Amino acid sequence: MNIKTLLWLIAAAFYLSPALAESGITLEQPPKSLANWYKPVNKRQVWLHTMFRLRRSMLAIEDYANSGNAAGMTKWTQKLESDYLKIAEMVPEWQQRTKPELFTELSLAIQSDDTVTTKRVLKQIAKSCDNCHATYRPVVAALYRSPDYDEILVRKNATETQGFEDAMHQLPNSINRILIALEDKRSADAIQAAHRLTTQLNHLGQSCTECHKDNAPIIRIMGKPTQRRLDNLVQYLTQGQVKESQKLLGEIGVTVCARCHSIHRTLADLKGVLQP
Ligand code: HEC
Ligand code: HEC
Ligand code: HEC
Repeated sequence: MNIKTLLWLIAAAFYLSPALAESGITLEQPPKSLANWYKPVNKRQVWLHTMFRLRRSMLAIEDYANSGNAAGMTKWTQKLESDYLKIAEMVPEWQQRTKPELFTELSLAIQSDDTVTTKRVLKQIAKSCDNCHATYRPVVAALYRSPDYDEILVRKNATETQGFEDAMHQLPNSINRILIALEDKRSADAIQAAHRLTTQLNHLGQSCTECHKDNAPIIRIMGKPTQRRLDNLVQYLTQGQVKESQKLLGEIGVTVCARCHSIHRTLADLKGVLQP
């Protein structure tokens, strides 16, 4: 059997096997009440800040346990407990995922100077953190802390605007029309499509300020080098320089589209899957 046949058989086995066809990843949605502790319902990212405090308290207790500082341990255990109890207060559906009873044991261990038990209970608490994180952390970050493009409008022409996603759909069409016209030696059409791409990207660039108050990120992707490439593109197309035009389009694809996508689109796509 040659390697091609073997690969074909493996592919066919995957395709035909019902068990494998059904296999996939299932992600659990967090309870709806979590939304109360994030923007826009809340002014602050209350949930996340509670989490940061939990981690700080855990570290303080561990460090004081290692240096045998009972007062320090007691102080930070109170902080830890108070924040830990907030988990189920904020999201009652997650009560089962917390282990508040461990705090009685922790306080007793600290009072009786029992470092071994203190460390063991801390590990158990950390385990309850990890269990919840394994299921929910990435989903929650994508759902509540990734930028939202639904409200962003992009100029379409002198009088109209369009949604962000519609604007995105136009961009590959312009690039492909340039490439098709180049290949089929329709120079005037290629130039026209290049002008359209330039206009579309300028309009897109104006929408960045909806989220970026600072100019630096916008300049990184839409700045002078990009403007120069777009100008050169029209020039090369006009002079019939096919290879150079193709090369420039590739550069625009990487420095404009791919660079922006690596930050913005990956998360947006993930959020789209989670929140259809
Ligand atoms: C803000 C920086 C940014 C730039 C610059 C950018 N994109 Fe996008 N693009 C996005 C984001 C964000 C999404 C996901 C939008 C969503 O899901 O709401 C996206 C989605 C897309 C999609 C999928 C649309 C869909 O939902 O079906 C295509 C196609 C696309 N971009 C093409 C391009 C091309 C081609 C370029 C370059 C000429 C480009 N984009 C430049 C941010 C950008
Ligand atoms: C019932 C669920 C649950 C429990 C229990 C829990 N967390 Fe979290 N934690 C989350 C979720 C959900 C996130 C994601 C929040 C986000 O990204 O906005 C998170 C995020 C975090 C983060 C932020 C991670 C980062 O670097 O961005 C820290 C730190 C953290 N948790 C610490 C803790 C500690 C310490 C404990 C235990 C003492 C704990 N958490 C218990 C649900 C939980
Ligand atoms: C819906 C909101 C949103 C829009 C619209 C948006 N961005 Fe961003 N962008 C973000 C967020 C959030 C981050 C990550 C945090 C940060 O850096 O502010 C980011 C990060 C970046 C970064 C990397 C970090 C940095 O500061 O250099 C660049 C570059 C960038 N954006 C460029 C752009 C450009 C160019 C546009 C318009 C074509 C754009 N963004 C449109 C939300 C947005």
